[in-house]
Amino acid sequence: MKKIMILSGAGLSAESGISTFRDSDGLWEGYDVMKVCSTQGWIEDRAYVTSFYNERRATIADKEPNHAHKVLANLEKKYRGRVMHLTQNVDNLLEKAGAKEVIHLHGTLTDLRCEACTQTFHVGYAPQTGNEVCPHCGNKRVRHNVVMFGEAAPEYVHIQQAIKECSLFISIGTSGAVIDVIPIAKAFKHSIIIDPKRQKTVSMYDPKTYIDEYFEHFIQKKAGEAMEDMMAIVDGFMEG
Ligand code: APR
Repeated sequence: MKKIMILSGAGLSAESGISTFRDSDGLWEGYDVMKVCSTQGWIEDRAYVTSFYNERRATIADKEPNHAHKVLANLEKKYRGRVMHLTQNVDNLLEKAGAKEVIHLHGTLTDLRCEACTQTFHVGYAPQTGNEVCPHCGNKRVRHNVVMFGEAAPEYVHIQQAIKECSLFISIGTSGAVIDVIPIAKAFKHSIIIDPKRQKTVSMYDPKTYIDEYFEHFIQKKAGEAMEDMMAIVDGFMEG
């Protein structure tokens, strides 16, 4: 049975008005990215980091899925059980578009996580006030549910699983700076990368200059504008 692995990143939600990370010069809506996205920053100033995630959570409340989210949600429905969608995004726009089986590799904004039992619970768009109690174990020390630099990302186990099970890889709107897409693309005979901008490879061992050179197809467009080209390749692959 042919299966598809999708890895999406911030570029997928860019057309919905959510800023990407590496187009912002280390500042994200006025916050120092390294401080708010690292365990070091969290240890130094929990209040600063918490206020950052509270703001992020509030700003996604009125964000709407764009054309690409909708096409990807339909793709999941069309080939039910044959699409593994792994996203690095912590927003809920794929779910708002109707997707049901998305794996959030870097966590979710709309949940909080207990620091004692590590279980998550839904908070929606509400700010973390400090008065939360874990509904699973009663502990009062809870945190945002977003993976930081310096800690493990347990959901990464699904990356290897998807590489094993799937035979088409689609990378959408990720610079590959955190999850290197080159070794993933190399593991696939069939692959598509969607990005309006060519991204340079970073390793001195990469013989090629641009990430897209490792892929079978490069659709150099914004995600929303790339969907028809992508679906033509996907349908040809799945039905061929
Ligand atoms: N459509 C598709 N791609 C786009 C669009 C668009 N409309 N706009 C920008 N892009 C591309 C950029 O050219 C870039 O290659 O999306 C990519 C975004 O890259 P990053 O900002 O690095 O985002 P991402 O790869 O998701 O970052 C990975 O880094 O800080 C961490 O945990 C955070 O999950 C995040 C991870």
